[in-house]
Amino acid sequence: MEVATGKKGRFITIEGGEGAGKSTVIAKLYEELKTRGVDVLLTREPGGIDIAEKIREIILNPAHTQMDERTEALLYAAARGQHLAEKVLPALAEGKLVLCDRFIDSSLAYQGHARGLGIDAVYQINRFAVGDCMPELTLFFDVQPETGLARINASRGREVNRLDLEGMRFHELVREGYQLVMERDPERFVVIDAEQPMEQVYQSALQALLDRL
Ligand code: TYD
Repeated sequence: MEVATGKKGRFITIEGGEGAGKSTVIAKLYEELKTRGVDVLLTREPGGIDIAEKIREIILNPAHTQMDERTEALLYAAARGQHLAEKVLPALAEGKLVLCDRFIDSSLAYQGHARGLGIDAVYQINRFAVGDCMPELTLFFDVQPETGLARINASRGREVNRLDLEGMRFHELVREGYQLVMERDPERFVVIDAEQPMEQVYQSALQALLDRL
């Protein structure tokens, strides 16, 4: 698989923990860019790609309780490679701006740091999957785990419960993981303060995007 050829579009990714408002904001960014006449593709892994969907089903299947963390990381990388090859790279070759909800940094933060596999190890397998096709810009939606989980629960109409709080340490590790990843590659990232009301989060993200285009 030649993953690095024919690239002339712009590849931009959005990252963040749970309840950061990524999906709401990314949908608005997509609409705004289209209105401005930008040829844009909005996608997210596994992105409707049959092979990647099937890999994702294996990862998420609740019956697979025995799945090893390394297997999980490899499967995420495999699904990512397929989504890239089948959808992202062709769009970039056509000169599109590709906005992707989560990419390699999710694996670095979740599998590499929060699950403890090591950011370097997870980076290596992902580089094998994606070649040198890295985003030119990544917007990191930064939210405290408490705020993010409260938002998720508010949208489900219930309070934060004991189980959510037990999971808090994991979400803190995810956030810490993203900080470590950003320190390794500071030029690629713009941090968006996702504690703000959603409209302001959107305005900050739009501004960051327009500044780079
Ligand atoms: P997703 O379906 O993208 O949901 P959202 O972006 O709305 O949170 O991701 C589902 C979960 O999978 C989310 O908790 C993050 C996790 N994830 C990983 O652990 N590693 C990865 O490489 C990716 C892409 C996601």
